[in-house]
Amino acid sequence: MIDQTPQPMIPSIKRRQPPVVDQASGLRAVLQPDLPQHRPVQVVAVSSGKGGVGKTNVVINLAVACARQRREVLVLDADLALGNVDILLGLAPTHTIEDVLNGDRTLEDVMVKGPEGIRILPAASGIQELSNLTYEQQLLLQTGFLQLEQPPDLLFIDCAAGISANVLYFSIVAHDTLIVVTPEPSSLTDAYALIKVLSTRHQQRRFRLLVNMVRKPMEGKDVFRKLSLVTDRFLNVSLDYVGCIPFDDCVPLAVSQQRPVIVAFPRSTASRAFTRVGTEVVQWKQEHPLRGGYQLFGAAGLGPLHEEMGKIA
Ligand SMILES: Nc1ncnc2c1ncn2[C@@H]1O[C@H](COP(=O)(O)OP(=O)(O)OP(=O)(O)O)[C@@H](O)[C@H]1O
Ligand SMILES: [Mg+2]
Repeated sequence: MIDQTPQPMIPSIKRRQPPVVDQASGLRAVLQPDLPQHRPVQVVAVSSGKGGVGKTNVVINLAVACARQRREVLVLDADLALGNVDILLGLAPTHTIEDVLNGDRTLEDVMVKGPEGIRILPAASGIQELSNLTYEQQLLLQTGFLQLEQPPDLLFIDCAAGISANVLYFSIVAHDTLIVVTPEPSSLTDAYALIKVLSTRHQQRRFRLLVNMVRKPMEGKDVFRKLSLVTDRFLNVSLDYVGCIPFDDCVPLAVSQQRPVIVAFPRSTASRAFTRVGTEVVQWKQEHPLRGGYQLFGAAGLGPLHEEMGKIA
């Protein structure tokens, strides 16, 4: 059964007065020694460069695939100006990340339940000023994650298209950056541009590639080869091939039903591919513990992230 009823996980509302971000309180919370000790959280940012390549579908379907592997999964809709994870899941949340970033709600207040036990942090839509988070808002978000009472095993971050400051920020705070491409040449050039900015300006060295909407079995590997040829030649990065998802009419059909394809059409070719990729994702190791999710979920991570954010600002 799918629970599509949008309900705040914790109904109590903790209002801050005044609703202005108190940076000092965020810092105090980060530095507090008695924060809950979390088990490691794997943070996966899903990005693309080009829009419309299937990031949001990848996120919601991988989230369900990983939940079926008995992982606690949280999805952050980080397309803060034009979020649509809630639309694709048929949810109508009352509150969004915008309320967290304004200092009015906690992450738990805005969390809603999605299919098969996944939890969602929905974004607002049409909020232009959230397209570039301020340092205080980044800190507020970080503090919120640190204070989660029930941290997930896996956090998927559905990033906006493009190479905005937010996209770079969410990639930097993640353990893994999963780049979604399609076989279209413009998707490859935009993915290359994203990898280039993250590696040359922010020293991100490792990326994973998922090829979506392939029409032939070998097309995924071919696309990976094409992209890795140029990244190997011009950038100091490693690019790992995660797999491919076939072009499948069941995906838009599921979108029109506002359900993940893996739930609506579990036997479709796309769903089987998402299940395969999900089985891999749950085995990913945190190879760079000093980067990424460490900064969202570990108290000592503020320093390095602060420096990184200085570069983004
Ligand atoms: N494997 C697939 N087969 C067929 N259609 C697909 C597939 N994956 C995604 N699509 C279609 O592509 C469209 C865009 O998907 P989606 O919204 O997930 O992309 P996105 O990268 O998140 O877009 P944006 O950059 O606007 O956030 C949707 O209409 C979806 O149905
Ligand atoms: Mg999207």
